[in-house]
Amino acid sequence: MIIANSLVKSFGDSTAINGIDLQIKKGECFGLLGPNGAGKSTFINMMYGTVQRTGGNLSVFGYDPNIDSRKIKKRLGVVTQENALDESLTVFENMMIYCSFIGLPKLDRKDRINELLKYMNLSHKKDARIQMLSGGMKRRLVFVRALLGNPELLILDEPTTGLDPAVRHLLWGKVRELHANGTTIVLTTHYMHEAEVLCDRLIILNHGKIAAAGSPQKMIEEHTPGYMGIFSLDEKETIKKILSTKNNFIHHEDSSGIYLRSSTLPELTSIHSDYGLTPLQIRPSNLEDVFLKLTGQELSIDA
Ligand SMILES: Nc1ncnc2c1ncn2[C@@H]1O[C@H](COP(=O)(O)OP(=O)(O)O)[C@@H](O)[C@H]1O
Ligand SMILES: [Mg+2]
Repeated sequence: MIIANSLVKSFGDSTAINGIDLQIKKGECFGLLGPNGAGKSTFINMMYGTVQRTGGNLSVFGYDPNIDSRKIKKRLGVVTQENALDESLTVFENMMIYCSFIGLPKLDRKDRINELLKYMNLSHKKDARIQMLSGGMKRRLVFVRALLGNPELLILDEPTTGLDPAVRHLLWGKVRELHANGTTIVLTTHYMHEAEVLCDRLIILNHGKIAAAGSPQKMIEEHTPGYMGIFSLDEKETIKKILSTKNNFIHHEDSSGIYLRSSTLPELTSIHSDYGLTPLQIRPSNLEDVFLKLTGQELSIDA
């Protein structure tokens, strides 16, 4: 459905996307992960021609977005990074304007809006002005807007950034439902856990390049297999002693603690029985660990 080959986007001297190859299949939930400024929005915006690529090839539904952006836009819905709602109008008025913008048949508009407001638990806010809505309600409304045209491809640019956990979990449920019903989804996020929960496959973007690609599980198995024990920074001396006698731990530290990774759980729990050290946490390693490793932020304890 989406094919990128050696895709490049430069803004003057700076390169936001620096030679990306990827394919996204129909029905997939595909994730673009990466820190702020990694190039996620730039990639998304190139998919429907809002940003014009400066090198390589890109095809969406078989069309070139630099040429046929209108044909592409008709078939997709976007939850943009910024809400871009008219604050002075009501929920219903905002959605009506969008219906006419995308050319939805007049007779269908009201029913479609009501149906989607209900789906996103917003029916009670139909006549409220946007400025009266909470951040989470505005975000749910942007989902409504993205779904009005019944898109086969749904693009979500940081859909849950800044939202509280309850709204985040509600939106995750909706995304999973849409995915289960066959909608293809492309999602950007800097929340590793979000990508792990939602995506079939993903890439980690860093400085406009792909740092890693695959299913969340495969990436963890490949780059940071095993379990992570997190210890208090106060235990530094004891941990140095452990590391001098046992060399099967991968370790790094940051301001939140000292991290020891091992391929087996017993190896980590033995630290408690052998040295009397109680970890703050022991957990299976996750995508955040992969990300920290690949972006060079996993430092040696001596660094
Ligand atoms: N219109 C623009 N003009 C100049 N530079 C831009 C523009 N849009 C994005 N950039 C730059 O491209 C890089 C990637 O930005 P962006 O795609 O927004 O990252 P992300 O969405 O991953 O946070 C950043 O360094 C950003 O400053
Ligand atoms: Mg962005």
